Amino acid sequence: MSHPVPPTDTAIIQNGATAFLEIVRPDLQAVEDELQQAAASTVHEVGAVGRHVLLAGGKRFRPACVALSSRAISEHVDARRLVAVATAMELVHTATLVHDDVVDNTRVRRGVATANAVFGNGVAVLTGDYLLARAVSMLASETNMRLIHTLADVTVQMSEGEVLQMVASGDPNLTDEAYFELIRKKTAEFIAGCCRCGAILAEASSDEEEALWHYGLNIGMAFQITDDLLDYTGDPALTGKPVGNDLREGRATLPLLLGLRNMSDGHRAMLLSAFGDASLPNHSMSMVVQTLRLARAFDETAAAARVRARMAKDALSVLRPSPYRDALGELADYAVERTR
Ligand code: IPE
Ligand code: IPE
Ligand code: MG
Ligand code: MG
Repeated sequence: MSHPVPPTDTAIIQNGATAFLEIVRPDLQAVEDELQQAAASTVHEVGAVGRHVLLAGGKRFRPACVALSSRAISEHVDARRLVAVATAMELVHTATLVHDDVVDNTRVRRGVATANAVFGNGVAVLTGDYLLARAVSMLASETNMRLIHTLADVTVQMSEGEVLQMVASGDPNLTDEAYFELIRKKTAEFIAGCCRCGAILAEASSDEEEALWHYGLNIGMAFQITDDLLDYTGDPALTGKPVGNDLREGRATLPLLLGLRNMSDGHRAMLLSAFGDASLPNHSMSMVVQTLRLARAFDETAAAARVRARMAKDALSVLRPSPYRDALGELADYAVERTR
């Protein structure tokens, strides 16, 4: 059993690529402290699994979206409420990952063994539920119903997206439209919801709130497209999760959809026979990656992610200039340039 070392600092800023988040360091540090509290339980086993999952790190991308969006509207937003909402968002996200790893049969995440790998599927599912309940209790004292509605709506979308993905699994003929709809639901709406909550907390105008929603939706799309790219091209030492899972589990994502169109019939047949083969050996996975690279699948996927990041940055022009707005721009670049 591997025991994650609790991070001594906010995980996202440790990475030099995210130094621009220094301006919200106190918020992110406070979220980290709240997550430690949330992991605690008087039931020993629940606390053990909660700590295992929450203290393994994670980029804390969603809390960063809440904090930057909020402070870009008003620097003097109520930090206590901001931290509660940002923590709730990270708890919902982490709960979903715990459930996602059960259904995806993933054994490593955030560089440590997943809850399902260490404690079994049953405990992992129930711990995911526990984290969701913790998220709800974080918001129990929140009086602004629009925050609660936003969180509820995007969590519903996320659950639907995960089911859509499960139903689509094994189908290499997924249309581009279906793929984009799926990632919008499972990832982008949630990140957009984080930005909207930030805006609501800071009492943004409706134009500002819509701008931050569109920013979040587009960085969310860029973020997931990049995740799907890193599933083929990432370094597991950096991403903290295995390479090739999407292909082996039969999940058609943008690199595969684009690559299949741009190769010989022989190569296409090779890829289709590897698709969904859970026991595909590593050397065959390397051939798949090489074939997709030659078909320019990775270049085109990265370009699609950059288009979304650009759209996100364009949405920011509605906000008044500030160091927080600049940092939101850098966060959009980070969503596509990241290696972890
Ligand atoms: C993973 O999210 C799931 C996706 C939506 C791609 P992250 O890449 O943000 O995972 P952590 O929180 O950093 O571990
Ligand atoms: C994100 O998709 C899943 C959620 C929205 C929870 P992935 O299945 O691609 O995430 P990873 O790659 O397992 O982190
Ligand atoms: Mg997964
Ligand atoms: Mg993935």
